[in-house]
Amino acid sequence: METIRIIDSPKHVNETVKIGVWVTNKRSSGKIAFLQLRDGSGFFQGVVLKNGIGEEKFTEAKELRQETSLYVIGEIHEDSRSHFGYEIQITDFEVVGESEDYPITPKEHGIDFLLDHRHLWLRSTRPNAIMKIRNEVLHAANEFFYKEGFTKFDAPILTGSAPEGTTELFETDYFGKNAYLSQTGQLYGEAGAMALGKIYTLGPTFRAEKSKTRRHLTEFWQLEPEMAWYHQDESLELQERMVAYLVQAVIDNCQSELKILDRDVEVLKKYTQLPYPRISYDDAIKLLQENGFDVKWGIDFGSPEETFLANHFDKPVFVMNYPKDIKAFYMQPHPTRDDLVVCADLLAPEGYGEIIGGSERSSDYDYILGRLKETGQDLSNYEWYLDLLRYGAVPHSGFGMGLERFLTWITLQDHLREVIPFPRMLNRLNP
Ligand code: 4AD
Ligand code: MG
Repeated sequence: METIRIIDSPKHVNETVKIGVWVTNKRSSGKIAFLQLRDGSGFFQGVVLKNGIGEEKFTEAKELRQETSLYVIGEIHEDSRSHFGYEIQITDFEVVGESEDYPITPKEHGIDFLLDHRHLWLRSTRPNAIMKIRNEVLHAANEFFYKEGFTKFDAPILTGSAPEGTTELFETDYFGKNAYLSQTGQLYGEAGAMALGKIYTLGPTFRAEKSKTRRHLTEFWQLEPEMAWYHQDESLELQERMVAYLVQAVIDNCQSELKILDRDVEVLKKYTQLPYPRISYDDAIKLLQENGFDVKWGIDFGSPEETFLANHFDKPVFVMNYPKDIKAFYMQPHPTRDDLVVCADLLAPEGYGEIIGGSERSSDYDYILGRLKETGQDLSNYEWYLDLLRYGAVPHSGFGMGLERFLTWITLQDHLREVIPFPRMLNRLNP
């Protein structure tokens, strides 16, 4: 007899198999018990017949507690009434791990309770579906960049630099010196691009965000490609192709997960149509003003502005060339406007806001040195970065996609905390 996983049931119809499972729920009437089972690969139903299994085992089955783990042995049958399409007719089972009273019952729980039990909550259908989509997106991203000829390049997490500003830093003692948890892999990615041409970093990044919003985590993952010789227009073209590729991968490979999350696939399909619209920051300000927003040129957009802009186009939209004063030191100055930089944020529709921030990078040593000084950075931490400009600097561009921002949008969740296994926020370090 073969030991299989639930997901493989279609290949074993009318065969007797063994599966290691947990019980998520159960109901029974006189002679039949239905066990809801999961094994990580899927969820399906086990049917226990009193006549088939005998009085004693039947009673034991009826009394199984939620999250008890067992080996079940039985025959796989098609079951057109269930959403999975298969079930197992159990002929024998063996308890492996008893379960105490399980805190997460099929009734509704508040979000704080669920987050306090995140280590268990991940077993439930919706978080489970989200984690599978996260896995698909990570897989597709690695596949996309591999096909595009990029080298995956790992940036350190302990750093001496603070490229995205010094206000949201996690500082830690490093043998008597200050170290920071990385806000971005970008500067290291730039060094990688000068060595390998086209690279991407993928890993956790950190911001000591004191604000409690549904779009901010203190620890979040960024996918950060960096391309030597690319100008901004080539980077934008790469960004939209990447987003469309990731959305298509989820559509193709996560149908049952999208169904569990009530995510309409027809809506997602719109986002695979390229190109995405582009609007300048200047025009975005005008458009907002014409639509009753009280915004002045020079502000950074908040959530209401971003929501309006992306909904206006009904697609992800690139907002290009922001004021220099609200962007990071490394961005390429605009060729004709010294108050702007050559950059773009990609805003997602349906109220999800900025999912990508990127720019062309300045390759001018004097300009960068000036900007570092202006923005109050400690130059001793950037000597190595300045070397990139000293030794054969070339035009280059890159961007960072917030993995959780992207996933929250694709899975239509209300808050980034839903799409990372163990969210880190202002008030949450546990579990
Ligand atoms: O726009 P940001 O700050 O850009 C950078 O860090 C650049 N160095 C990226 C690059 O060019 N290589 O952050 C990039 C993206 C944002 O667009 C957003 O999606 C996400 O990271 N992000 C956050 N996600 C969750 N929680 C936070 N606190 C985030 N801050 C930024
Ligand atoms: Mg940004």
